[in-house]
Amino acid sequence: MVIVLAAGIGKRMKSRQAKVLHPVAGRPMIQYVLDLAEALSADRILLVIGHDRAHVRTLLAGRISRGRIEVVVQEPPLGTGHAVLMTRSLLADYHGPVMILNGDHPLLRAETASDLLRAHRESGAAITLLTAHLENPDGYGRILRGPEGQVTGIVEERDATTQQRRITEINTGVYVAQADPLFELLEEIRPENAQGEYYLPDTVGLAVQKKFQLQAITARDPNETLGINTRIDLARAEKVIRRRTVDRLMLEGVTLMDPETTVIDSTARVGRDTVIYPWTCVEGETQIGEDCVISSHVRISNSRLGRGVLVKDHCVITDSVLEEEVSVGPFAHLRPGTHLRRGAKIGNFVEVKKSEIGEGSKANHLTYLGDTVIGKGVNIGAGSVTCNYDGVKKSKTIIEDNVFVGSDSLFIAPVKVGRGSVIAAGSIITQDVPPGSLAIGRARQVNKKGWARRRKKDVIRDSINVKRKPTRNKSIRE
Ligand code: UD1
Ligand code: CA
Repeated sequence: MVIVLAAGIGKRMKSRQAKVLHPVAGRPMIQYVLDLAEALSADRILLVIGHDRAHVRTLLAGRISRGRIEVVVQEPPLGTGHAVLMTRSLLADYHGPVMILNGDHPLLRAETASDLLRAHRESGAAITLLTAHLENPDGYGRILRGPEGQVTGIVEERDATTQQRRITEINTGVYVAQADPLFELLEEIRPENAQGEYYLPDTVGLAVQKKFQLQAITARDPNETLGINTRIDLARAEKVIRRRTVDRLMLEGVTLMDPETTVIDSTARVGRDTVIYPWTCVEGETQIGEDCVISSHVRISNSRLGRGVLVKDHCVITDSVLEEEVSVGPFAHLRPGTHLRRGAKIGNFVEVKKSEIGEGSKANHLTYLGDTVIGKGVNIGAGSVTCNYDGVKKSKTIIEDNVFVGSDSLFIAPVKVGRGSVIAAGSIITQDVPPGSLAIGRARQVNKKGWARRRKKDVIRDSINVKRKPTRNKSIRE
């Protein structure tokens, strides 16, 4: 049985959005806590929500519909103790251990939580709490201990004396308690404190008074117990999760030239022997295959890259599919809906949107391809543009297999170029081109003999006239 508390307002975040929805390394922090709860194979997971609950429900719709979590509403949020009390009616027939987790603790590891659960079961305590020693305990509840070192209670920072604030052992907000004594104690806590809230940690002091057996376990890695209260905490957590992700990837066989500056979301997958250069971001559900090279200053979001893909410096790749052996960049922009088939090549300063580029086809320089379907073995010359938008609607360009497009061609969509055709450089293609044809859609060239020489003389004469030097003017004319 796990209870996750996520109903609080999260005032210190200064955000319109519920705190637990803020992403850490690409995922809302509540997802990490719920993953942990699922990893413990708890028979039930109760999630207490309140503030901004519509959004929390939307985010977790999948887990709710699969029956993995049961939602309990706390309204208004009167404190962590009150939040746990809201689950009481759902647990009327339950008498075993309950693990309580804060929804703002994305760094806690499943092993730590299951160790705590085991220790609780073995000791037979009424409450087992997880504490940590922090260099800077600011903001956390402090653990009070008696002369023999026994825990006597928890004091919240805002209620603590100056001396108590010097205590560096903190309450991590992770507890295991037997359901019956827990609810009995929760009924007795009172909101007599600086915040006027029902504090869950007050159950610890009460348990001591009532002589319930208490156990405190200290976390080995204080990093895990970071609670996210402010955006500074958020940035810290981001760093820790990112570090975990890059460490995992390196152990799985990915080379990261500089893990410090490589930002990879925990949701991304990267294959073996792929090399990622510094200052690159891999975001969301991106999957990168084996043997790829991803150069510097590249951002890849929610995209799928096959084996052996080369992404040169300064590319942005969003919601796209790149099949194996594709090469992209430098300075390419692949916008949503781009599908590059095996061995396709997109070069520098090329933008592609909602387009399919066939096997082995190339657009190497300075091109825009939008709403376009390109077949196999096509060569798109430098500076070519598909004119897909007439100011009202978007239209398609179709370029079939083995077409050769000369540089600086414009395709006024909708338009189709049949297989094997050649488009003369500088053409404006407004009509469909039958297969195997040459299309020339440009103005005819006119050469005016001697024109340039005459113009040069006129220019010189005019400039001399301006300076009013008639004598020299004359000599030049001769
Ligand atoms: C809490 C503990 C503190 C501990 C710290 C660890 C209390 C009173 N204090 O403080 O001893 O050191 O966690 O990080 O518990 N929540 C609700 N309903 C509410 C209030 C809060 O569901 O009415 C949820 C929040 O959404 C959050 C969690 O409970 O996920 C903790 O609340 P928060 O306000 O962050 O508590 P802290 O002040 O950090
Ligand atoms: Ca907190």
